[in-house]
Amino acid sequence: MNLKGRNFLTLKDFTPEEILYLLDLSADLKAKKKAGELTEYYKGKNIALIFEKTSTRTRCSFEVAAHDLGMGSTYLDPTGSQIGKKESIADTARVLGRMYDGIEYRGFGQDIVEELAKYAGVPVWNGLTNEYHPTQMLADMLTIREHFGYLKGIKLVYMGDARYNMGNSLMVACSKLGMHFVACTSKKYFPNEELVAQCQEYAAQSGATITLTEDVEAGTKDADVIYTDVWVSMGEPDAVWEERIHDLTPYKVTSAVMKNAGEKAIFLHCLPAFHDLKTKIGKEMGERFNLTDMEVTDEVFESPASKVFDEAENRMHTIKAVMVATLGEPETR
Ligand code: CP
Ligand code: NVA
Repeated sequence: MNLKGRNFLTLKDFTPEEILYLLDLSADLKAKKKAGELTEYYKGKNIALIFEKTSTRTRCSFEVAAHDLGMGSTYLDPTGSQIGKKESIADTARVLGRMYDGIEYRGFGQDIVEELAKYAGVPVWNGLTNEYHPTQMLADMLTIREHFGYLKGIKLVYMGDARYNMGNSLMVACSKLGMHFVACTSKKYFPNEELVAQCQEYAAQSGATITLTEDVEAGTKDADVIYTDVWVSMGEPDAVWEERIHDLTPYKVTSAVMKNAGEKAIFLHCLPAFHDLKTKIGKEMGERFNLTDMEVTDEVFESPASKVFDEAENRMHTIKAVMVATLGEPETR
C-alpha cells in the first residue's frame, strides 16, 4: 500500500483496504513504541500544526508523534498567526508548503482544509473541522479492534448530535468497514440526507448497515459500542446550550443504556467529556441548568466498560501512522 503524498482530510477519500492498512501500521508503530524501539525515520523534516480551535489530545499526539519520528514541529495557536485574519488560506498554504513537509489543520469548515491541501504541495492532515474528525476515527477503530479483535459486524451506536464532525465521521468509518452504525437521537439531530445516501453506497459494498432512530431501547439493544460526544461543539454559540440539553437529555449515556447494550459493550467518547461537571465550563453549565452531568453519567465514564483513555492514547499511535504513510514509508522501517 502506498499513500505517499496523499492528504488526510476525510475517510470518504480512502478505501476500506487503505483504512485497514493505516490501522495495521498504527498497531505496528504502537508495538515499537511500547518496546522502546526508536522510529526516527524523518530526521531533518518538519511539520506545521495550525490550530484555529483549542486542543489537548490532537495537538499532543501530533507533537509527540513528530518527535518520535525525528521531526521538528511548529504549533500555531488560534491567535498567534496571520491565518484567516491578515492572510488567506491559499497564501498561508503556499508559504508553509515551502518550509514544512506536512501541515495539520484544526478549525472550522471542511472547505478550509481542502483549500489548504489544494495549495500546500505537501500532505495536509485534518485535525478536526466542523464536518469531520478523521484522525479520531482511526483511534476509535483501533481501540474497538484491540478490544473485540475485529471490526466487521460490530454494532456501534452514536448518541447525541449526529449532524456534526463526530456523528458524520463515525457513520463514514462504520459504513466503509462493514459495521452496523446507529444514530440514536432526536430526529432534529440525524445526519444530513446527502451524507446518509453516500454512506449507504459504502454500506452496500461492505455489508454495513445504517440505522437512524429516536428509540433508545431498540437503538442501543445488544450494541457492542456506545459512543457519545459533547452536546455543544467548539465554535457553536452559547445560545444553543439550553435547547441541546432539552433535546439530548433523553439520549444521555446512563447505566441503563449500557445494561441494555449488553454485558460486553464498551463505552467510547472522543473527549473532552462533561461527566462530572467539575471543570470551569462544566460547573458554569451545571449551575445554570441544575445538572450534575451531561452526555454521559460519571458512573458510566468511570466504569470498567469505559475505554476512553485507551482511545485517547491511540490518537497518538494512529496520527503517527497517518504521517508515516503520507510522508512515505521509509525503506528501513
Ligand atoms: N478528541 C479530541 O480531538 O480532543 P482534543 O480536542 O483535546 O484534541
Ligand atoms: N464535536 C466536538 C469534538 C471534540 C473532539 C467538537 O467539535 O468540539
